[in-house]
Amino acid sequence: MTSGSACGKIILFGEHAVVYGRPALAVPLPRLRARAHVTPRRGSEVVIHAPAMGRTVELAASPDDPLALITRLTLERLGARGGLDIEIESDIPIAGGLGSGAAVSTAIVRALAAHFGQPLPVEEISALVYQTERLYHGTPSGIDNTVIAYERPVRFVRAREGGGNEITPFVIARPFTLVIANTGIPSPTKLAVADVRRGWESDRARYEQIFDTVGTIVQEAQRALAEGALERLGELMTRNQEQLRQMGVSSPEIERLLEVGMRAGARGGKLSGGGRGGNVIFYAQAADILRLHKALDAEAAGVIVTEVK
Ligand code: PMV
Repeated sequence: MTSGSACGKIILFGEHAVVYGRPALAVPLPRLRARAHVTPRRGSEVVIHAPAMGRTVELAASPDDPLALITRLTLERLGARGGLDIEIESDIPIAGGLGSGAAVSTAIVRALAAHFGQPLPVEEISALVYQTERLYHGTPSGIDNTVIAYERPVRFVRAREGGGNEITPFVIARPFTLVIANTGIPSPTKLAVADVRRGWESDRARYEQIFDTVGTIVQEAQRALAEGALERLGELMTRNQEQLRQMGVSSPEIERLLEVGMRAGARGGKLSGGGRGGNVIFYAQAADILRLHKALDAEAAGVIVTEVK
């Protein structure tokens, strides 16, 4: 058996505006992982088993399935063929904006590359996974596959026509604790992205202004992280959330968790990812984390406390 794994991710600042060419900051969540295990199988069939997703996918019979697509693309790239059994497991909550889809795809690419003894460069892994992200997202910026493939903090600016994406590591001078609370509502990234697109098409000037404001917040956040000025993070998150609200991607469930978190001592917070559901992130000082965790536990579908470094 040969295995590959990949981390989850969280967008700290800049989602949605990143689709329109503004920068965004994302970090890996190395302790949340998806894994793929490859074993040879008699015959020529490739079968992907994903019990947690309630799915068994036969490559030949499911051309449009994202798991089948990433497997087919990778086998083509490696010039390899079946039969293979591919077992998927993941501890990343599905549809919550934590990158579960991209992480599963990345784990499959890594496991197949290892199985056939052909390790692939990180840019290529990221590009392969981007192809499947298009099935999930419609018009993804590419930030998810990038931060997961590189597994390090990434400042991402989407390519302008004809150019490449701008991918720069950013500095986190002092580690900090992030509290992530799940609304329990699946985050329909594709729908939220499409709604923002409709809003932008009907009032470009207003949306461009919102995106510019987000761009400025991202720049300030990058500076605060580089300087270790963590006390500014909370306020910056809350300002970013205000812009996400203006874009129409917040929801009553997100707002409720934000209210509970702020009352329990968080210094700031925002939705993360597509919005409407999914996860809310908070910045809090060490002394307030326990109280915040407890308060959110009573309200959220799940709480993750993780160090970002
Ligand atoms: O829902 P997520 O975490 O996969 O995030 C998507 C981020 C967006 O900016 C909303 C879309 C994109 O492709 O960048």
